[in-house]
Amino acid sequence: MTDQKSTGEQKNGVEALVAPSGDPVIRTIAMPADTNPAGDIFGGWIMSQMDLAAGNAAARLSRGRCATVAVEGMSFHSPVKVGDEVTVWAILEKRGRSSMTFEVQAWRRPRVGEALTCVTRAHFTFVALDENGRPRPIPEENDGETWV
Ligand SMILES: CC(C)(COP(=O)(O)OP(=O)(O)OC[C@H]1O[C@@H](n2cnc3c(N)ncnc32)[C@H](O)[C@@H]1OP(=O)(O)O)[C@@H](O)C(=O)NCCC(=O)NCCS
Repeated sequence: MTDQKSTGEQKNGVEALVAPSGDPVIRTIAMPADTNPAGDIFGGWIMSQMDLAAGNAAARLSRGRCATVAVEGMSFHSPVKVGDEVTVWAILEKRGRSSMTFEVQAWRRPRVGEALTCVTRAHFTFVALDENGRPRPIPEENDGETWV
């Protein structure tokens, strides 16, 4: 299970976080094609990276097709600039019969520099689907479940 620690400090009313220590699901570079009209990275691009990350984790956990059913609590704390390295973690919070909720965190690192900043976090719920697009149970066994 990915470890998540808080420094306990507050910045702009947001609890300062330490980046998760486990493996991220996605690490990519923000490119000029991903910008909004102001030149910063478009929030929708970051949200799509988070959805991709959670969807990948959900498919891996449930060993099959999944769909996003809910996204809750998203707020943006910091802009992302062209050239930033963007890293996305998906941390399993809740596992139901067919549903899985992940806390998804996106962090940025400037192209030149080591400072990691949490850009946004939200709770993504996915449902495992069968071949008819209806909910199916998540398999019980998952090789120890140590990867999320
Ligand atoms: C996912 C879908 C098949 C679920 O159908 P449904 O009739 O709501 O199914 P159920 O009521 O049996 O719920 C299935 C599970 O989803 C959970 N769930 C349903 N709606 C939810 C919501 N809004 N938030 C959180 N969990 C939800 C239920 O609690 C249940 O969890 P459990 O099996 O772990 O107990 C259906 O809502 C759907 O097809 N949605 C569209 C998905 C999609 O296209 N996503 C991409 C959007 S671009």
